[in-house]
Amino acid sequence: MADPAPDTGPSDISEEGAAIELERLAKEMAEHERLYYVEQAPGVDDAAYDALKRRNAGLEARFPALVRADSPSLRVGAAPSTSFAAVRHGAPMLSLDNAFNAAEVADFIARIRRFLKLAAAEPLAFTVEPKIDGLSANLRYEQGRLVQGATRGDGRTGEDVTLNLRTLADIPERLKGTGWPERIEVRGEVYLGHAAFAAMNAAAEALDARTYANPRNAASGSLRQIDPTITAARPLRFFAYAWGDTSAPFAETQWEALQRLRDWGFQVSDLSLRVENEDALEVQYRAFEDRRPRLGFDIDGVVYKLDRLDWQERLSFAGRIPRWAIAHKFAPEQARTLVNDIEIQVGRTGALTPVAKLAPINVGGVVVQNATLHNADEIARKDIRVGDTVVIQRAGDVIPQVVEVVLDARSSPEPPPFAFPQICPCPLKTAVTRETTGGGVETVVRRCTGEMACPFQRLEHLKLFVSRKAFDIEGLGERQLSAFYEDGLVREPADIFRLARDEPALAVLRAREGYGETSIRNLVAAIEARRTIALARFIFALGIRHVGETTAATLARGYGSAEAFLSAMDLLAAGDTSAAEELDAMDQVGGAVVDAARAYFAEDHNRVRVANLSVQLTIEDAEAPQADTAMAGKTVVFTGALESVTRDEAKAQAERLGAKVAGSVSKKTDIVVAGPGAGSKLKTAEALGLQILSEAEWLSLAREA
Ligand code: IVH
Repeated sequence: MADPAPDTGPSDISEEGAAIELERLAKEMAEHERLYYVEQAPGVDDAAYDALKRRNAGLEARFPALVRADSPSLRVGAAPSTSFAAVRHGAPMLSLDNAFNAAEVADFIARIRRFLKLAAAEPLAFTVEPKIDGLSANLRYEQGRLVQGATRGDGRTGEDVTLNLRTLADIPERLKGTGWPERIEVRGEVYLGHAAFAAMNAAAEALDARTYANPRNAASGSLRQIDPTITAARPLRFFAYAWGDTSAPFAETQWEALQRLRDWGFQVSDLSLRVENEDALEVQYRAFEDRRPRLGFDIDGVVYKLDRLDWQERLSFAGRIPRWAIAHKFAPEQARTLVNDIEIQVGRTGALTPVAKLAPINVGGVVVQNATLHNADEIARKDIRVGDTVVIQRAGDVIPQVVEVVLDARSSPEPPPFAFPQICPCPLKTAVTRETTGGGVETVVRRCTGEMACPFQRLEHLKLFVSRKAFDIEGLGERQLSAFYEDGLVREPADIFRLARDEPALAVLRAREGYGETSIRNLVAAIEARRTIALARFIFALGIRHVGETTAATLARGYGSAEAFLSAMDLLAAGDTSAAEELDAMDQVGGAVVDAARAYFAEDHNRVRVANLSVQLTIEDAEAPQADTAMAGKTVVFTGALESVTRDEAKAQAERLGAKVAGSVSKKTDIVVAGPGAGSKLKTAEALGLQILSEAEWLSLAREA
């Protein structure tokens, strides 16, 4: 792409002007998107549309508080990619040790003094920097040009996200000013502000697209997009705070280094400061703690770095942690509020989860209204009652939790202890049972016994059914599904497929607001596209407890076809022991899966639903593995030239037979297939006395297996 960088436009635009322009862009781009996706008659060409998109991204990067809920930058729900090239960092990206209190900070200082043999009277200067909660990135500049950008990865090797990082307005394509080393790795944090995060999630929610749990995940997901224009549209920011490999030193102190980074065009946090003496650290820590709720982005502590770089160098690292820096972490953010109610939610498997409905309260920039109470035992243990004042806590990405009840604030007369319902809140009003383990021990879980007859569970099950890893039906998200469910259009999975061919039902939809002819056509097409489905997805979508995506794939490979799977399940439900053994013997399938599958298929209503569904579908066979072949579990090494098949093919062949293919020969190798030109690997194999085969011998063995 010629110029993927966000377009920040004239630098003197006022906030007011930007707001007006962002509103206009939102409207204009929505109309272009409608023309493109719905009418399939684009109003502008791609380049013109991209220019609008960049303009929007640029303004949002400059005025994060102005990101609109209907911003075009928030409309794309693509999942992060997993396919970036690996890049090795010039110098490893390290992490920081944590201090949780003043005593740990004092230990850190004492270690430094001991290490450097400094007198106690010698003052130590430090920088104090915000510990921004995002994800770190490594930017490689050569001759002042950005040549590569990568995520941290495991510290040595990260992912190449150069194109994506280039779209950030805070990351200069060329270094400004002078004095930069010919080669330098600049490091810092990519993050999203609270306003941008909230707007992004609000927009995603309205579209039933995925939402992120916290700004850090959102930043990470936004950066790791295969399509850089998606990253460009997200208002990501970047603060520089460190460097890795450099061709020449460029500063004598950390403080000076930060100034240089700023001179060269990076954002360096205005909050960073330098203290002359370690005694000032605690005061600065408190000051950061005070400011934290108003920063507009997440910080989870402050970082102290010894200012003198010559001392940093002498101290160097202990493992992956510098001896010259430490993160002084904040305590989790807490607040007090009132429990207005305790609601019971029914999950897909019927588990009842109590949720505290709180008087809305701002905890570190996020308004909290709900907190999970986990289960009945937890409520009893903490003695949480409706009407109580409680301390709630938000730590990093976790769902807000109730820490404790403020007993002094309990009203008098006291509210009664919370009585966990014995009857499910679902319309069936089933008896709530306490779950027991296979061994008969009671667990903390209370369950609705209504299963598929329970409308709450049924709806949750339908949501699973259409989810990404299951049938993944485009345009049929949770919101639409809930509406269809309420109208009685969709009550069980098979109904979705019936609906697509049911003219009267579609007429009901057509009469509904928001459903035009085109959207109905799209919905029907999306459903029809899934009428043919892979066996693994089908099994996963049934919502059998303990059968997640991986187990579903195992079962699909194990049974091979829907017919084989369903008849085995019938036998299992009827108490057939060999069916149970067959299932139990599959890789990573344990007793819990066997029990859950048996219980599921023992229920008439489940069997009826599965049968109703199956007749609507074409379920594709899975490629059955040949796990019990002579080759299963063996390690094979190919060396030398192969004549009748390619390496890749031979490798795939071996893997189909359940063998592992390795690159080098060791005692763990079972078979070495040696072709012409085989060298040292063959010698090693001979020395180790391993089984050595020619290509022809291998092929005939593979055919037999
Ligand atoms: S310095 C050799 N400075 O915290 C030290 N890190 O726990 C390298 N972080 O991976 C890190 N703000 O992602 C440093 N002002 C700051 C930071 C910071 C946030 C992150 C960074 C690092 C992690 C270490």
